[in-house]
Amino acid sequence: MEKKTFALKGNIIFTKEKEHFEIIKQGYLICENGKVREVCPVLPETFRGIPVEDMGDRLILPGLTDLHIHAPQYAFRSLGMDLELLEWLETNTFPEEAKYKDSEYAARAYGIFAKQMKKSATVRACIFGTIHSEATLTLMDLLEQAGLRTMVGKVNMDRNSPDYLREPSARASADATREWLRAVADKGYHHTRPILTPRFIPSCTDELMELLKEIQQENSLPIQSHLSENPGEIAWVKELCPWSAFYGDSYDRFGLFGGDCPTIMAHCVYSGEEEVERMKKRGVFIAHCPESNTNLSSGVAPVRRYLEEGLCVGLGSDVAGGTTENLFAAMAQAIQASKLRWRLLDDSLKPLTAEEVFFMASKGGGAFFGKAGSFEPDYAFDAVVIDDGRLSHPQPLSIRERMERVIYLGDEREVYAKYADGEKIL
Ligand code: GUN
Ligand code: FE
Repeated sequence: MEKKTFALKGNIIFTKEKEHFEIIKQGYLICENGKVREVCPVLPETFRGIPVEDMGDRLILPGLTDLHIHAPQYAFRSLGMDLELLEWLETNTFPEEAKYKDSEYAARAYGIFAKQMKKSATVRACIFGTIHSEATLTLMDLLEQAGLRTMVGKVNMDRNSPDYLREPSARASADATREWLRAVADKGYHHTRPILTPRFIPSCTDELMELLKEIQQENSLPIQSHLSENPGEIAWVKELCPWSAFYGDSYDRFGLFGGDCPTIMAHCVYSGEEEVERMKKRGVFIAHCPESNTNLSSGVAPVRRYLEEGLCVGLGSDVAGGTTENLFAAMAQAIQASKLRWRLLDDSLKPLTAEEVFFMASKGGGAFFGKAGSFEPDYAFDAVVIDDGRLSHPQPLSIRERMERVIYLGDEREVYAKYADGEKIL
């Protein structure tokens, strides 16, 4: 489809590298065929005459990517926050997710979720549904209508879950997944893609993991799951998979850990040397979810180490471990958690900077979708226009200072407009 060429004018800010912001005050961001053509202080001769949308003094940033969020958990955010992971799953999460068997409930609850996501600064997201195919298709319909660029998974669970939220066998889970994939293909979505979603090792038998690998290969699908989040969970995986060298190895044995299988693992709070090495070698993406890690008393991931070692790291809101889909809050929380880690646990890893968390929420996580999350040439033209007037200050601030305040104080109220692949979606 031929897409028009146009430019946005305003205060452009992005991170090509995690160490510093690229800032072009009152610059032009040129879109050609849905991609970034270039960013420039003055409109070049060849582009004179193209439509220019003047955003005034507003900030223009790349669309953000949420690498890990549970759509069915949106409804019960902020409940059960005194519990640790495994208790919280049993007490709050599984009963809530079971409600999505009811299509009417799913339509209502996912309607609220999609509406909030649309208003946020998030353009791309990797999203967990539930084990229910029909509800997951409803979620995908709503996200497609919202214009967001997403990967969505029907969750697989065939063990260690209550009867009301467990698929009857590995075979049944795999068959349901294949059927769901056929239904997704029939829908002909433009922006909504399926992603395999074994919940985590404790919920999936070895047999199911083997079947999921077959499905992964048949369809060249990516996968998303959870890894090394909580000490009790990690000990349990050791019991369940005595043959594995470490938690990540129990995915890798089935070929579901990066390499030819693009993979996102949420958390990685307690990943040891071998696990880190394997993730690096296989290009596994880490979704750092700082608010969830605090709320569920999980711990603090050594994110600076991952960044310095060149691992792929993005940010996740992990609703409802996290209470908000707002990725500006996730950026601030990542900085705050890293400061406590530095002061209390390990002073060899300096706290994260505003540049680094911005990078993770934009180009870092965006890389799971290809060239997304930056304004370098040929990147997807995903842009968020931020009106920070509500955060006004009596004195003029630099663009960097304004960005820093948006990180700590901003939410959907600051989102003035939003573009995905050059298309205005808000
Ligand atoms: N591990 C397995 N399931 C979940 C979940 O729903 N949330 C979080 N934070 N961790 C999990
Ligand atoms: Fe999660």
